[in-house]
Amino acid sequence: MLEKDEFSDCCFNMVDLGCALGPNSLSVVAHVMDTIQNLRKNGNNRQEFRFFLNDLPYNEFNGLFELVESEKELVCGPRSQCYIHGLPGSFYTRLFPRKSLHFAYSSTSLQWLSQVPQGLVRQNKENIFITMTSPPEVLDAYAEQYKSDWFTFLILRAEEMAPGGRMVLTFINRSGDDFSAKEEYVHYDVLAQTLLDMVTQGLLEKDDLYSFNVPIYMPCQLEVESIINQQGSFKIDKIFSFPVRWDIDEDADGFDENR
Ligand SMILES: C[S@@+](CC[C@H](N)C(=O)[O-])C[C@H]1O[C@@H](n2cnc3c(N)ncnc32)[C@H](O)[C@@H]1O
Repeated sequence: MLEKDEFSDCCFNMVDLGCALGPNSLSVVAHVMDTIQNLRKNGNNRQEFRFFLNDLPYNEFNGLFELVESEKELVCGPRSQCYIHGLPGSFYTRLFPRKSLHFAYSSTSLQWLSQVPQGLVRQNKENIFITMTSPPEVLDAYAEQYKSDWFTFLILRAEEMAPGGRMVLTFINRSGDDFSAKEEYVHYDVLAQTLLDMVTQGLLEKDDLYSFNVPIYMPCQLEVESIINQQGSFKIDKIFSFPVRWDIDEDADGFDENR
């Protein structure tokens, strides 16, 4: 985008949707600014960049602002014209004025639905997510909620994006069409089993467990593509799935436990 110089006269607006607070919160800002600095070595060094860090209002924004304050120079470079702002609000609502956003990014956040699918309460019994024993209505309700949320997300971002703007989105998906790849959701089974044990031990009301479902959905690639095509505002440049290991060696990744 920047090589084309199409946006060189404006302040270039970017957002990380679902930035959270942690070692990853500024990694995209660092990566983007680093790339820009390499591109701009001999060119326009006066362009200004604005980075919005978005998450739900109850994200720990104070901690995030402290992180920005302490790491901004390291992340953005000493002389770059980069401005970082917090942006509380759901990405299922409008976050920006019309045609003002140039680049939207999101990592591991879009699997979160806007709400627990309607009408699910109690039908899923002791399950807290889609499992092999969930009735078909539960699967349908989750798929419908995902479709409606994904549609909303695309419509809102299309309104906000400046002409020529782009998005890079990564989120958790499922490898097959159905929900039979148990290892992909095994942590929800473990959590459900733990909650059931708590019911047996009298630590939790059975009714509370029966009314609890996690508002998360892992679409398959075909679902993602078909909704983007059906909605029609965006064109897919690249789409692919990649496996992520659960047993990441945190030390090797430079994870700082103190943050
Ligand atoms: C697993 S974290 C991802 C954090 C970071 N992007 C990363 O890659 O490590 C998911 C984040 O998405 C945020 N999130 C979930 N639903 C959201 C919504 N509707 N609007 C904005 N943020 C949301 C959560 O609060 C959480 O901080």
